[in-house]
Amino acid sequence: MSISRRDSHDSSTEHDSVKADKCLLGDGSPSLNNQKPYLKASRWRNYASRLQTFISLPRLACNRATCLLLAGVVLLFYLFTSEHSRTSSHSPYNPFSLTPPYGQSEPWYPSPLGGSSPQWTASYEKASKLVSQMSLVEKINLTTGTGWMMGPCVGNTGPVPRLRFPQLCLQDGPLGLRFTDNTTAWPAGLTIAAGWNKTAMYERGRALGKEARGKGVNVILGPSMGPIGRLPAGGRNWEGFGADPVLQGVAAETTIRGIQDEGVIATAKHWIANEQEHFRQSREWGTIEALSSNIDDRTLHEIYAWPFADAVRAGVGAVMCSYNQINNSYACQNSKLMNGILKDELGFQGFIVSDWLAQRSGVASALAGLDMTMPGDGLGWQDGRSLWGPDLTKAVLNGTVPTERVNDMAMRIVASYYQMGQDDRDAWPHDKEPMPNFSSWTKNETGLIRPGAKDGQTAKINHFVNVQGDHYKLVRQIATEGIVLLKNEAGHLPLDKDGHVMTQNPNRKIRIGVFGTAAFDNPKGPNACQDRACNEFAMGSGWGSGAVEFPYLVSPIRGIKEAMKEGSVEFNEANTDTMTSEIDEMASKSDLCLVFVTADAGEGYLAWKKVKGDRNDLHLQNNGDDLIQRVAGKCRNSDGGGPVIVVMHNVGPVIVESWIDHPNVKAVLAAHLPDQESGHALASILFGDVNPSGRLPYTIARQASDYGPTSSVLYFSKTLLPQQDFTERMYIDYRYLDANDILPRFDFGFGMSYTTFALANFEVHALLPERTALPAERPQPPHIPRLNRHIPPAADNLWPYNGPPIDEHYIYPYIYDIKDSVPSSTIYPYPSGYTVPKEPSQAGGDQGGNPDLFTPAVLIKTLVINTGDRDGAAVVQAYITFPTNVTDSQGNLVDFPPRQLRGFDKVFLEKGQKASVEIELTRRDLSYWDVGVQNWVLPVKGDFKLALGFSSRFGIGDDGIKIIPLGEGVGTWPP
Ligand code: BGC
Repeated sequence: MSISRRDSHDSSTEHDSVKADKCLLGDGSPSLNNQKPYLKASRWRNYASRLQTFISLPRLACNRATCLLLAGVVLLFYLFTSEHSRTSSHSPYNPFSLTPPYGQSEPWYPSPLGGSSPQWTASYEKASKLVSQMSLVEKINLTTGTGWMMGPCVGNTGPVPRLRFPQLCLQDGPLGLRFTDNTTAWPAGLTIAAGWNKTAMYERGRALGKEARGKGVNVILGPSMGPIGRLPAGGRNWEGFGADPVLQGVAAETTIRGIQDEGVIATAKHWIANEQEHFRQSREWGTIEALSSNIDDRTLHEIYAWPFADAVRAGVGAVMCSYNQINNSYACQNSKLMNGILKDELGFQGFIVSDWLAQRSGVASALAGLDMTMPGDGLGWQDGRSLWGPDLTKAVLNGTVPTERVNDMAMRIVASYYQMGQDDRDAWPHDKEPMPNFSSWTKNETGLIRPGAKDGQTAKINHFVNVQGDHYKLVRQIATEGIVLLKNEAGHLPLDKDGHVMTQNPNRKIRIGVFGTAAFDNPKGPNACQDRACNEFAMGSGWGSGAVEFPYLVSPIRGIKEAMKEGSVEFNEANTDTMTSEIDEMASKSDLCLVFVTADAGEGYLAWKKVKGDRNDLHLQNNGDDLIQRVAGKCRNSDGGGPVIVVMHNVGPVIVESWIDHPNVKAVLAAHLPDQESGHALASILFGDVNPSGRLPYTIARQASDYGPTSSVLYFSKTLLPQQDFTERMYIDYRYLDANDILPRFDFGFGMSYTTFALANFEVHALLPERTALPAERPQPPHIPRLNRHIPPAADNLWPYNGPPIDEHYIYPYIYDIKDSVPSSTIYPYPSGYTVPKEPSQAGGDQGGNPDLFTPAVLIKTLVINTGDRDGAAVVQAYITFPTNVTDSQGNLVDFPPRQLRGFDKVFLEKGQKASVEIELTRRDLSYWDVGVQNWVLPVKGDFKLALGFSSRFGIGDDGIKIIPLGEGVGTWPP
């Protein structure tokens, strides 16, 4: 399988752009042939910082002598692998000069200007009026964070007070506002995905946006649509929306529209292929460089970039570039991905912000399209040595970075602010009220304004504004809809609230055994662990920057007790996960046993036990498998057949084989990550107040290897430059199992209900007037405002105040000496390929890509009928199968996953009720990415198959699979 064929032609690639980063420290003159100045000393600075990484390897416990010895060995090894191997042809991976075996990202310059979408014209006009009045340092102030903990939010930009442009507050995250008070803990991305409810997705986004605005947050750092779930054990999969690009895309688009309809800028993250936590950053994991995700062009388009295209189409104001490398070029300095795909092809109009410390270079990242660096520090937290800030000012003054690039950075940031209406002083009363009105760093009312600085200035920083409204209702609804009923033998669920019917003995109360710590409240409180990084007691979310403080957490046991009729039940509570005789005893005297089990994961900067972000396997944690089997063996020992109901709270797929077929395990629920309303949501499903309507947003396989040979996290790297080759290409999750004829335990899209549904009257209508392989020509952009490109006099950018700065680590844009802007005599090159401007992509033209890609091509209609005896909601899913024998522009046979989700709809139906469902497919849905023509191509020959069903495998039978003959011309399809 070849990877990055297109990328490998040029050994002088983005990879080399790492070199140019040090230009920022240099002082030099512009030169005619674009050979840019570069100061050697800066290389040493970078090396020093890398060495520091090694020397401070956290897990090395050693005495002084061994420490020194180790440091020496590491130093020699490092020098060997970096300096020496520069000239050696034997080194497998060399960060600077050799070509890694797979993957090289091609250069794409210059960075496209924002303002190319007609939907943003008014905002760019306003932005040009404001930014044209800004000095160079004022523009740069917008692009560079003030430093970690140098303001109330996790990210704070510099303001332009002279023009009343405020400091922008950037705050996590995808499921609520991190480090805040009086806000809601929303169900995670995975949970909302499991609900498959587009309206709820939008409403959740909208409520999240409203809370953010109420707290004075300008930019929410979410939603997450990467990782997508290539690796089922990936630590952060739960922040996003499931292992399918279409489901991710729909959820991303609706969430973003919701957030931005409240005037808050949403951030689509993490761009891109950030599929695991191990080695995502060099420092964190003790490697020289971060992991490189090596990925081919077609897979990138059809799987990983797909949901981002939808996010851009929704008008997202910010995109976050990720920590990892892609094809051996860091995401935040990868010109192909930022300039080429995101800004040109996908027509992204907002600004690209780095993940926190994901910026690894100054000039290279600027030229490659990065617009904002966060938190503003350099290569380390609070190091005060920003790669931009004053260095970007110098780079512009000495001609290294074109003024037009900095103009564009500022324009993109200011235009996003206008696009969301943040200049509306009623909605954003910056002048009248403290905004933001909270501090991320303390819960006290008064405290340090900038805890990262030494200035010691204090103020009232927490105003405790309550923005929760009645959002708990929506949280409960979403958490309930995100519960997937996987097994329900003999209709054991729903349970009766009045337990008597279950005792088979009218003379006594029902005895319910509740097993597993996950059912119970954490005695230390639900926020006991830092950023929720532990799997102890009731589990509401995964951990990391995507987690929030719980205002409260209704544990499962509380939810169940509240729901059951008082006095009708006796509870036997085994608040333990340890295999003791207590479990046997409780189980044997229970009529019904509820077992609570979990699988947790999170972001890689924190670990719980041996789980360093990514899960170590796909099994339940805290002895979950053993607990279920033990309870199942003993429940209602009088006859040995007490029904067992298993409730999992899980961050993704779990292997259930050791207990799923146990005769006593009668019902199983995957409850995902419900957050604050956990127990209430669960009770409403257990007792049938709500009919389950969740569907799996991933496949549950029978064994981990069923997901394919490349589906495991790279836990160990043989090299100091970890490489991960995406050789499975598009075949992730159900696409892999289908292609390899592997029977899943529970298929993607699967979930049961307390009622039954049927589909009828399946119709397919062709909507495209003409069958053409390629989309229409890329439309011409509107007028793009351009600002003055003169380099201002260096003196205008000097530190303007009499006193010293607040703190040496606080990031300002000023230079301190005019000599800083003088060119040096040493010349270093720009990234190679810089001087060959790229043609705009024919796949581009507006937000999300060429508008013709979104032309409706096919309309599927069906009738869905509730054939059971309870009200409930059905999720109708549309899958397509591409024609066979398609050849691409290079004459190669094109392979396709057997079935791919392309649309869905959720319909609520009363018992006996029918409703018509319509699902529209666009030209993009019926196209593949042709690497040769660099465009989406719709096969003009052969038949497409369309299947509607209630999961990826449970179609409506052979009769229901509609074939669309795609003969020559439109007249022949549908027949
Ligand atoms: C995470 C981002 C997050 C940022 C700020 C990083 O560690 O990867 O998702 O937005 O921190 O907290």
